Amino acid sequence: MLRITDDRNQFTQNLFTTLPERYDLLAEVLSMGQNGRWRRTMIDHVVPSSPSTILDVACGTAGVTLQLARRTSAQVIGVDLTEGMLVKGRQRVVDSGFENRVQLVAGRAEQLPFRDGAFDALTFTYLLRYVDEPQATLLELARVVRHGGIVASHEFFVPPNAFWRAWWLLYTRLVLPVGGWLSGGRAWFRVGRFLGPNISAHYRKYSLAWTVDAWRQAGLDDVHVRVMSLGGGLVMWGTRRHE
Ligand SMILES: C[S@@+](CC[C@H](N)C(=O)[O-])C[C@H]1O[C@@H](n2cnc3c(N)ncnc32)[C@H](O)[C@@H]1O
Repeated sequence: MLRITDDRNQFTQNLFTTLPERYDLLAEVLSMGQNGRWRRTMIDHVVPSSPSTILDVACGTAGVTLQLARRTSAQVIGVDLTEGMLVKGRQRVVDSGFENRVQLVAGRAEQLPFRDGAFDALTFTYLLRYVDEPQATLLELARVVRHGGIVASHEFFVPPNAFWRAWWLLYTRLVLPVGGWLSGGRAWFRVGRFLGPNISAHYRKYSLAWTVDAWRQAGLDDVHVRVMSLGGGLVMWGTRRHE
């Protein structure tokens, strides 16, 4: 059992503990199918390097973890701090027949239980909005990737174009909470109400330029950015620098 003392981690655990049962369906419905597109695009940048070992951080119910197992022949480890999400994820791993290649463990992105350079590739999704120190967390993620290994991620984004940003604001401030309530009850209403302001606040503090620089400061080179879905999604990838 993971012992959490950090307030931010505690808040995140509470938020996600009630979600696992319907998480995968509602993540797709409430993102209007875009979550799956961002996930595929991110994994497209991992597959060509034919990694033997991959770490998927903030794996939740193993949606990304299982796609990585399907699309590569790697041993894949998923790590997450919410036990409820991991329980659901482990059930999905068994149902998919990947127990021999996929393992899910409890852990914090801020302090990963792995040695330096342990993985050929690493993915993380919807993570940096949930940590107190994104720069320090990126350093920790890069630490466990071997030199020359791939790091890839996807996240929500705020549309840069004013017209699409107005629609995005309407969607995140009104449709998400109401849609969350109608489809998933009180727990999803809470998430729906939390998400929009949380995404806006994150990018007010950590702009895209800051984020790209933070990847570089963490020891990643060839950092690429692809803004998707009219600006609602952000896929990034880079390579762990050779010393
Ligand atoms: C929105 S879910 C995404 C799950 C999965 N990546 C996906 O795309 O389906 C975010 C996940 O991040 C996990 N998480 C948040 N902060 C974390 C941290 N500091 N360390 C590890 N996991 C974290 C949460 O527990 C939650 O399962």
